[in-house]
Amino acid sequence: MDIQFNSLRQEKDATGIIFCDSNCKLVGYGKKLDQISKKYISNIINLDNSFKIRNSKNFDYIIIHQPQNLKLTKLIIFKLKKYKEFSVRDFQILGGHIHALIKFYKEDKVIIYPDGIISSKMSFINSVSEMILGFSLASYSFTKYFSKKDKNNKNKNNKKLKVKFYSSQHTRLSKNYLNIQAISDGVTLTRNLVTEPPNVMTPPEIAKNAKALSEYGVEVKILGEKEMKKLGMGSLIGVGQGSIHESQLVIMKWLGGRNKKKKPIAFIGKGVSFDTGGVSLKPPNGMEEMKYDMGGSGVVIGLMKALALRKAKANVIGVVGLVENHIGSKAQRPSDVVKSYSGQTIEVINTDAEGRLVLADALWYTQEQYKPELMVDLATLTGAIIVALGDEYAGLFSNSDKISKQLSDAGEIEGEKLWRLPLNDRYDKMLNSPIADMQNITNGRGPGSITAAQFLQRFVNKVPWAHLDIAGTTWTKQPLPTSPKGATAFGVKLLNRFVNKFYEGK
Ligand code: BES
Ligand code: ZN
Ligand code: ZN
Repeated sequence: MDIQFNSLRQEKDATGIIFCDSNCKLVGYGKKLDQISKKYISNIINLDNSFKIRNSKNFDYIIIHQPQNLKLTKLIIFKLKKYKEFSVRDFQILGGHIHALIKFYKEDKVIIYPDGIISSKMSFINSVSEMILGFSLASYSFTKYFSKKDKNNKNKNNKKLKVKFYSSQHTRLSKNYLNIQAISDGVTLTRNLVTEPPNVMTPPEIAKNAKALSEYGVEVKILGEKEMKKLGMGSLIGVGQGSIHESQLVIMKWLGGRNKKKKPIAFIGKGVSFDTGGVSLKPPNGMEEMKYDMGGSGVVIGLMKALALRKAKANVIGVVGLVENHIGSKAQRPSDVVKSYSGQTIEVINTDAEGRLVLADALWYTQEQYKPELMVDLATLTGAIIVALGDEYAGLFSNSDKISKQLSDAGEIEGEKLWRLPLNDRYDKMLNSPIADMQNITNGRGPGSITAAQFLQRFVNKVPWAHLDIAGTTWTKQPLPTSPKGATAFGVKLLNRFVNKFYEGK
């Protein structure tokens, strides 16, 4: 994908995209093209029912081939309903739909004329930038394992696709595009890490990808099993001991704040490169989905890339606990007791409830080492959250109303929605064990996502904290407006917005 910006002009042998309002009144350069075409365009769009292709609740479109008196070979006119009320997410979705259309019609040279589409809720630059972000995110594809590039690569059209934005404000748009590219690159990295198969994307390989961020100014430290053992991280180590791949704890540091000594904010990700369930083995149906059990770590790594690329003015720590939860003669057993880095002991009743064991040590380490202002962890933690919220909302758990509100607001803006669920002492007590400080699951059926969050809370040492259970939102079986089927990177945009809106430059 190649996106460029230029000043207003017509173009030969290209498809132009222009816009009109709900009364079919052309905006921006569309008006000028209409003049040049001697009202050919407005005559067509004012015909009754010309916009008969209903595309979405916010817009319809019409295509004119070989428009009279114009050099363009084709014109696509988007009729935007109430664009003055468009939100950030509406613009992203519009960009996603424009991409879908261009792909469907196999366009390869497209000029978009965005002047005039501006919402009362944000500036022109932001409106168009969000549209470009949606466009860019929708264009994601992962084709590296097709051996015959031409036949199997369904998205081969993308490669040569050239999209240009022609605008009176092209200089400012192109400058702001750097921010958009940063977010888009972060999302792409997350999607790539999550989509890679688990025989390739092992814990050391994920760590290597995190290490590569040092190129952008992120300080990266990697702890191997030896170091973690020495520190006493028995909870994390226990999960990975059945695997041939070495467990890792990776710490990424981005100090972009004006005051480098200001307390950082911290993001912690569950990185189970594959979750067989361990000795408490998962049933075979659907087990292949467990390659995305490192989704939380993927989001943290992608987020750190986005923040570094756009040089975010905030001090941010990213920590990912990387393990493979495998069966084998060395694997831990149900009823094993492990000692966590916090000193608390855990009876492992079910080896498939492993994410919390990984996060327990990662969370304690983060608060102890970096004394953060707050911690947010992300994890594909429980199947129960899918029962509760499906793929529409991720679960939010927190000991802080303030952080909950900030995260929910950021998620609402980005279309990565969160739904808060409760924590309380009675749920916490359900984790008590007869032979250790706690067990990793409760006895009998219960509120599985809540008790998992209660477990994590025992390792945050009262630091302001939120936990996002992204088990239902990390992977999509249906294409979404700005995310093709597969890895969504749910959380990268949300947390980038969270940092930008509430923790930057202050
Ligand atoms: N990785 C799974 C949770 C999961 C399920 C993620 C479906 C994505 C889609 C997690 O490690 C797990 O296995 N959790 C168990 C917990 C149970 C043993 C208490 C679950 O949800 O069944
Ligand atoms: Zn599991
Ligand atoms: Zn898991």
